[in-house]
Amino acid sequence: MKQRLGAQNALYPLPAVLVGALVEGRPNFITVSHLGVLTTGQEEFIGVGLNKVHFTNAGIRQTGTFSVCIPDEKMVELVDYCGLVSGKNVDKSEMFEVFYGELGTAPMVAQCPVCMECRLHQVIDFPDHDLFIGEIVETHAEPEVLQEGRLDLGRIRPLLFDLHGRQYWALGRPLAAAWKAGLKLMEKEQG
Ligand SMILES: Cc1cc2nc3c(=O)[nH]c(=O)nc-3n(C[C@H](O)[C@H](O)[C@H](O)COP(=O)(O)O)c2cc1C
Repeated sequence: MKQRLGAQNALYPLPAVLVGALVEGRPNFITVSHLGVLTTGQEEFIGVGLNKVHFTNAGIRQTGTFSVCIPDEKMVELVDYCGLVSGKNVDKSEMFEVFYGELGTAPMVAQCPVCMECRLHQVIDFPDHDLFIGEIVETHAEPEVLQEGRLDLGRIRPLLFDLHGRQYWALGRPLAAAWKAGLKLMEKEQG
């Protein structure tokens, strides 16, 4: 029989990313793993959950923009550092080579193989957290992480985060083709 753990979120691993915003006029980067895809296709919206105590929140609200940058395995120490120290006490603006795109106010990390710039769509006000919903307006990728023009996870080598084990994980191997692995069962069903 399964053991009850109480209301624990078991949805790990999640990617560990750097969310960038201009705060008081300078770039700040916060490590985030509580984020996700909200819609895809014609509407590309993502949600990022930030505790209200963080320095970054005010910058996102002020500029109405933010970035989500995907670091690779080699950046694990930098990513962890950005999750240990706050822009309230430490200036993180010089840590990375920063670039800007369409929006002009969403700082992105050149060292990250993939960066998305987002326009703030809505903030959902939870008691402890701001849930920032952003529309992706442009995605910037190093050509080396593309395979026939598509983002290739095996080349990006993103960092995965497990809150329960308090560890970063690396990506494993591909398992099966999506929208194909179930075809046999479908065929069986249809006789
Ligand atoms: C792996 C990792 C993931 C984190 N994920 C989140 C998150 O999803 N939301 C959040 O509010 N804080 C998260 N944090 C904590 C913030 O990154 C941390 O408190 C940071 O110092 C805040 O920076 P700021 O005050 O400059 O905005 C995470 C930290 C680590 C190390």
